[in-house]
Amino acid sequence: MSRPEIEIRDLHKSFGDNHVLRGIDLEIGQGEVVCVIGPSGSGKSTLLRCVNLLEEPTRGQVFVGGTEVTDPDVDIDAVRRRIGMVFQQFNLFPHLTVTENLALPQRRVLRRDKASALRIAAQNLERVGLAEKATAYPSSLSGGQQQRVAIARALAMGPEVMLFDEPTSALDPELVGDVLAVMRMLADDGMTMMVVTHEMTFAREVADRVVFMDGGVVVEDGTPEQVIAHPRHERTRHFLSRLLDPAMADVEEGTADQVGRSDPAGGRD
Ligand SMILES: Nc1ncnc2c1ncn2[C@@H]1O[C@H](COP(=O)(O)OP(=O)(O)O)[C@@H](O)[C@H]1O
Ligand SMILES: [Mg+2]
Repeated sequence: MSRPEIEIRDLHKSFGDNHVLRGIDLEIGQGEVVCVIGPSGSGKSTLLRCVNLLEEPTRGQVFVGGTEVTDPDVDIDAVRRRIGMVFQQFNLFPHLTVTENLALPQRRVLRRDKASALRIAAQNLERVGLAEKATAYPSSLSGGQQQRVAIARALAMGPEVMLFDEPTSALDPELVGDVLAVMRMLADDGMTMMVVTHEMTFAREVADRVVFMDGGVVVEDGTPEQVIAHPRHERTRHFLSRLLDPAMADVEEGTADQVGRSDPAGGRD
């Protein structure tokens, strides 16, 4: 692996008595794409949120591009500028056009002048294939297009790494492919990416590594071939069998647990 772009050491996070992350160790190299999979409530979102300090870790260290972001003296805003994040919900401003949605954070956070912000907005809309929607309002776009705008908005900030938290889980199935295609393009361009997803085809074809989390620990970490095709741990096998064939899992367990692309308990984000 090239030098780690993201390094997570013995990361713990508790919410009150709820010990959610129980010692996560993970390294993600420059240009590497790591997919994080695991059952709802296993701490996937909390892990991503600790990387860009949307949550404050209880213990442990996180480094991004060699800078310790968990250092109490760190400039949090400077750290966040280096990390783009895309959520399940797109969080676009409804009263602003697509271009204005991309320009606003550049001007507010990066203090870019208007002409530069507009130029960089246009470049990134082009990149996600939505140049023709520059003057549209979010409500006139499909969910998939809105998510691509959200990705372009993150890219316009010039991040070194991108975090994705179930970016396609809120989309109708026919809209998922366009968003995944944009993510695949980013991966091909060499972006360092940490992607929480249940899209196994994407994980197999695009990820360099797949990490399976359960109960706040990393259970398995390897190539997609190792983790998805030849899981070593029973917990991984069980999760994958439920994901790939939810109907069978219901029969096996006699429950009506909903498992699939969606993440019913993960709706906070
Ligand atoms: N802000 C929060 N306050 C309290 N509990 C939280 C908060 N965020 C997450 N949790 C809890 O942490 C656990 C893991 O949640 P999460 O990281 O969202 O899991 P996942 O993304 O794998 O579904 C859950 O029990 C959830 O209720
Ligand atoms: Mg989640």
